[in-house]
Amino acid sequence: MANEREVVFYDQGAATQRMLAEVLAGFRRPQKQIAPKYFYDEKGSQLFDAITELSEYYPTRIEMQLFDQHLPQVRHRFGDQSLCVVEYGSGSSKKIRRVLDTLAPSVYVPVDISRQYLLDNTHELHADFPHIAMYPVCADISREFELPAEVDSLHKLGFYPGSSIGNFLPTEAVAFLRRVRRTLGQDAHLLIGVDAKKPAQVLEAAYNDAAGVTAQFNLNVLRHLNDQLNTDFRLHNFQHEARYNQEQGCIQMFLRSTCDQQVMIGDDTIAFTKGERIHTEDSYKYSVQEFLQLAEAAGFADAGHWQDDQGWYSLFLLTGQDAQK
Ligand code: AVJ
Repeated sequence: MANEREVVFYDQGAATQRMLAEVLAGFRRPQKQIAPKYFYDEKGSQLFDAITELSEYYPTRIEMQLFDQHLPQVRHRFGDQSLCVVEYGSGSSKKIRRVLDTLAPSVYVPVDISRQYLLDNTHELHADFPHIAMYPVCADISREFELPAEVDSLHKLGFYPGSSIGNFLPTEAVAFLRRVRRTLGQDAHLLIGVDAKKPAQVLEAAYNDAAGVTAQFNLNVLRHLNDQLNTDFRLHNFQHEARYNQEQGCIQMFLRSTCDQQVMIGDDTIAFTKGERIHTEDSYKYSVQEFLQLAEAAGFADAGHWQDDQGWYSLFLLTGQDAQK
């Protein structure tokens, strides 16, 4: 076919070399911690997809409604400009299919830390969208990375759905947004989904689902470490916990050790006392005003934002301050 585009893979050597050092450093802190990016091995990505289908987990459902309602209008703003959609953390393929249909970019650049997942998804997607060139970039989005030179002349639309920005501390979120501006260019746009503050019982139900999928997702991080780093975590010796921290405005997830135990990590032994917790995730929730303050601190301006009727979830279109559209 004449205008069939290609898939070109850019490997920026993300995950594995740094993983052991990073994980060990996390276990040596007074509050032991594992970075949430380690949830997402293949099994973890599947479990996360299952979470998005749960009745208690409202964010994905509401975000999809907001996409359906407002993306046509977002596309309309760009007129007949060719777009390059850069997705931060290429996640669930269902979401991106609807977005690619509506935004109709000429190029799609999914960026993800999970190499195989990224490649498999991109090839599957490209089979259904043969006219969109796809340049998957394997990189850790919490660090600096570069776009392929092929997209230099296109208008960039960053896409960061699912309220994944909530995993950063607010100060880190500002630093992340600044990096996004640097990576995409000053006149680029960013379309970002952000979970809002709401009653604690609604939030806590979303992270303590009755079917226990979130518990499996949380525990799976230990299985991922066992796989990748040869550690010997016994999953049945840890328990899922998720609480809303009202002062900080975030859901916090932990794995609580149910006994005194030791775990081998590389050449090191890490000791856990009964009841001790590993901090695995923060998920910050922002009001529209709070989030716009963060975005402005990073040099972005509001180019439009939308919420559902209950005000549970928000979608923002941001742009570099000097080049508002
Ligand atoms: C993908 C980070 C947005 O915080 O809601 C879901 C991950 N953790 N259930 C979230 C998650 C537990 C999710 N984010």
